[in-house]
Amino acid sequence: MTELLKDKTAIVTGGAKGLGKAIATALDASGARVVVADIDGDGAQQTASQLSHGEGAACDVRDDKQVEELLGWVTQRHGPVDIMVANAGIASVAPIAEMSQAEWRSVLDVNLDGVYSSVRHAGRSMAGNGGGAIITMASITGFAGSPLISHYAAAKAGVISLTRSAAVEWRDHGVRVNAICPGFIGTDLVLDRVPEFESALGVSLNDLIAQKQGRLGTVDDVAPLAVFLASERSRFCSGSAFVVDGGMDAALV
Ligand SMILES: NC(=O)c1ccc[n+]([C@@H]2O[C@H](COP(=O)([O-])OP(=O)(O)OC[C@H]3O[C@@H](n4cnc5c(N)ncnc54)[C@H](O)[C@@H]3O)[C@@H](O)[C@H]2O)c1
Repeated sequence: MTELLKDKTAIVTGGAKGLGKAIATALDASGARVVVADIDGDGAQQTASQLSHGEGAACDVRDDKQVEELLGWVTQRHGPVDIMVANAGIASVAPIAEMSQAEWRSVLDVNLDGVYSSVRHAGRSMAGNGGGAIITMASITGFAGSPLISHYAAAKAGVISLTRSAAVEWRDHGVRVNAICPGFIGTDLVLDRVPEFESALGVSLNDLIAQKQGRLGTVDDVAPLAVFLASERSRFCSGSAFVVDGGMDAALV
């Protein structure tokens, strides 16, 4: 427990489980008041109940109005929001030629449009209230081609680009915007899709991860970076994409 984020108010979207839950827990342990927002309202409440200063809220980031109302609700209760972690995301597995437009859209709706709404409403509020820190959850797939997840990778590349543009737009308003780009992390998003991925690729995911990353990442490999980016310790960082992948993105072979 530290006081690094004492008196700060944070929102974590997709905070009910996985990376979002770990980040909410780490922000809470650093002294922040954390609103855990998730499409799974019960899950958000459950995660929030495990925090020292947590509150849960149901919010579907695909709905811009719900995100706007979330910002309004939190601001009314606690004053201006200082930290937004735009983390909510989904994945599916399909080759481009067989991917329906509905499947393409469903991933873009959450992973790019949902981040746009979270960044837009948080940044607007922060810019008018002396600043803040926005953290977007991108991925190393935003930098490199990935078979079977073209929609996911395109969304993450878009998130990195949106992050950079938002950082420039709000540079003079004290709003820092940075992206986290994890490699493979052991959450439901990855683990639930192992059989599909393996049968489509014809390789063992364990072997691929061992070869490229050394090991599967854990949520606790990523959460400390979010605390750093949320805090004054990263005061000179903005518009950057921070890779946490055990060296996977650096490798040519
Ligand atoms: N796990 C990985 O290897 C990995 C790697 C790189 C990036 N990421 C990104 O990290 C983020 C979190 O992923 P995770 O691995 O923790 O997944 P997860 O499936 O464990 O958790 C995702 C959370 O997002 C919530 N969510 C889904 N749709 C939502 C919506 N419309 N509105 C609000 N909440 C919604 C889910 O209910 C869930 O609680 C995602 O953006 C994902 O793309 C994950």
